[in-house]
Amino acid sequence: MSPWSWFLLPTLCLLSASAAPPRGAPASANCKLKAQQNELNSFLWTIKRDPLSYFFGMIHVPYTWVWDFIPDTSKEALQQSRIVYFELDLTDPYTISALTSCQMLPRGKNLQDVLPRDIYGRLKRHLEYVKLVMPSWMTADQHGKGLYADYLFNAIAGNWEWKRPVWVMLMVNSLTKADITSRGVPVLDLYLAQEAKRLRKQTGAVEKVEEQCNLLNGLNFSQVIFALNQTLLQQESLAGSLQIPYTTEDLIKHYNCGHLSSIIFSHDSSQVPNFINATLPPVERIAAQEIDSYFRWELIYKRNERMGKRVKALLEEFPDKGFFFAFGA
Ligand SMILES: *[C@@H]1O[C@H](CO)[C@@H](O)[C@H](O)[C@H]1NC(C)=O
Ligand SMILES: *[C@@H]1O[C@H](CO)[C@@H](O)[C@H](O)[C@H]1NC(C)=O
Ligand SMILES: *[C@@H]1O[C@H](CO)[C@@H](O)[C@H](O)[C@H]1NC(C)=O
Repeated sequence: MSPWSWFLLPTLCLLSASAAPPRGAPASANCKLKAQQNELNSFLWTIKRDPLSYFFGMIHVPYTWVWDFIPDTSKEALQQSRIVYFELDLTDPYTISALTSCQMLPRGKNLQDVLPRDIYGRLKRHLEYVKLVMPSWMTADQHGKGLYADYLFNAIAGNWEWKRPVWVMLMVNSLTKADITSRGVPVLDLYLAQEAKRLRKQTGAVEKVEEQCNLLNGLNFSQVIFALNQTLLQQESLAGSLQIPYTTEDLIKHYNCGHLSSIIFSHDSSQVPNFINATLPPVERIAAQEIDSYFRWELIYKRNERMGKRVKALLEEFPDKGFFFAFGA
C-alpha cells in the first residue's frame, strides 16, 4: 500500500467488499515478537471525563494487515463510545464525489496540454505497461469477489488524462503489485467507519474534503513535475519487481509491534512522501527537501493543530457524550 493511499479513497470505497477473508500483511511486515493480547500496544489514549472518550491512532492500510495486532481494549473502546469521529466521513457519498472532483483538471484541459512532452509520453507508456501486467497481479481471492483487472484499472486510472498531475503522481504510486493485490479489502479507516455504522454509532468528521485536497493542489507546477518525474523513475525501475515499498512495510511492522515513536518520528514511516534520496544531485535534493518540508508543515503541524481545535470544541460542546476519535498517522 502506498503511504499515500488514503488520498485515493474514492476508488477504494468503490471496491470495498463487506466480507473480506482475512489475509495477512506480507510476512516480513509482521511483528516478529508476537505479544500476548494484553501486551500489545493499543495506540489508544483515554480522555479522562465521564463518560470516557478516546483517541485511537490508525494507519491507512488494509485492515486485515493490522487487525489481529489491535488489542481488545481498543476494540472495546469503540463499542463503548456513543459517537465516532474520523478525519473524513468515508461512508458519505458527498465525501467521495468531492474527493473525485477536486482531483480533476479545470474543464476542457487534459494532461497532454499540461505536462512536458517527455513526462507525458513516459506516463502513457507506464500506464500501458501496468494495464498489460495487471491481470497477473490479481489474486484468486479478488476473482472470487468478482474483481477483475479491467474493471480495477478503469476504476483507478480510467480518467487519468483529466486528472491534475499531482493526483496522477499519487495514482501511479498506487499502481503497484502490492497495492493492487490489496484492493477489495477496506483500509482500516473505512473498516472502522463501516463498523461504527453497523454498531449504530453516531459518526462525524473533523476535516473537510477541500482541506485535504487543497493541501495537495497547493504544490506548485515545478514541484509537481519533479515529484511525478521521480515517481515515474522509481516505478520504471520497479517495473516487474514484486516489492512493496520498504517504507510501507516498515510502517506496518512498527504499528503491529507497537513502536509508537518509530511511527511518529521516523522519516521513513511517515505519511509524508519521501523523494529525498542521498544519491540525488544537489539541485534535485533541494527540490525534494522543499516538497518534504511543505508536507511536514501543512500535513502534520498545521493540520494537527486545526484538528486539535475541532476536537476540543466537540468535547466542550457535548460534555456528557463519549467520543471515539479515530485518526491516521
Ligand atoms: C515553487 O516552489 C518552490 C519552493 O517554494 C520555489 O523555490 C519555486 O521557485 C516555485 N516555482 C514556481 C514556478 O513558482
Ligand atoms: C527527470 O529526472 C531525471 C533524473 O533526476 C532528470 O535527468 C530529468 O531531466 C528529469 N526530467 C524532467 C522532465 O524533469
Ligand atoms: C536513489 O536514486 C537512485 C538513482 O535515481 C536509485 O538507483 C536508487 O534506487 C534510489 N534509492 C532509493 C532508496 O530510493
